Amino acid sequence: MWDYSEKVKDYFFNPKNSGVLEEANGVGDVGAIACGDALRLMIKVDPITEIITDAKFQTFGCGSAIASSSALTEIIIGKTIAEAMEITNQDIAEFLGGLPPEKMHCSVMGYEALRAAVANYRGEAWAEDHEEGALICKCFGVDEGMIERAVRMNSLTSVEQVQHFTKASGSCGTCLEPIEEVLQRVNAEMVEEGLLDAALAFDPAAAVRPVRKPKSGQSPLAPKTSVATPKLTNLQRIKLIEEAITDLRPYLKQDGGDCELIDVDGDQVFVKLSGACIGCQMSSVTLGGVQERLVEKLGQFVRVIPVPSAH
Ligand code: FES
Repeated sequence: MWDYSEKVKDYFFNPKNSGVLEEANGVGDVGAIACGDALRLMIKVDPITEIITDAKFQTFGCGSAIASSSALTEIIIGKTIAEAMEITNQDIAEFLGGLPPEKMHCSVMGYEALRAAVANYRGEAWAEDHEEGALICKCFGVDEGMIERAVRMNSLTSVEQVQHFTKASGSCGTCLEPIEEVLQRVNAEMVEEGLLDAALAFDPAAAVRPVRKPKSGQSPLAPKTSVATPKLTNLQRIKLIEEAITDLRPYLKQDGGDCELIDVDGDQVFVKLSGACIGCQMSSVTLGGVQERLVEKLGQFVRVIPVPSAH
């Protein structure tokens, strides 16, 4: 069960600064729909003062991703670029009154989007092509630089923590070894720099690897979501499901895919994926993201089930 703060809930249900910022002169895209989370941060910067005068976001993801994105815009508006670049993912989490450990990757996504938007404003290349380090986790598009920043900024000392903060290793798990190597190297550097107690540093010999594979047929994002259980009529439920999927479709379309509501039967929601979503090896994670969004919108558990076109 996720234990969300009241502020996270408020920012999820009443997000500030969501939508398109037409006058943006810096845009940062991180994550991907296929990975279950994606964030586009748009900033408007005064070129004379370098003050961020406005910011908006569009995101596909769970409630804490929406809340973190919204919090980020609130934090950076009015700050200079230099001041904004001092912000850490911990600042985003603290602004929200904390995030569950397993959801810290949402704050890291905000931090990474800010860096990407500032790089775009400055006309610099951003590491979408992972030029700053080897691509470590192919499933979630996480490179060495992102892992290193998350480890340093949050004093991470286990692979499980790296997974919580970046999602890396959260699917097929073939990236576990390279993650351990990065973690070991960065922790050793931190110990040398006096930033970490040697006794806490990652020790591969003693490490317990995180459980990474969901049970058959179960979304990795499905079972732990905190839910209230408001009484809804069937009609209310279906309307909320329709609304949630309508909200998500533009983001899926941005990635060349789509998701259409086919039917609702009890707690089963049947959807049809199309376009780039079909056959994508991460489609189960995409569905997990859709499912989590629906569960949070309804306050009730539902299972999202893909159906073939003929259904
Ligand atoms: S490559 Fe990292 S989880 Fe699959």
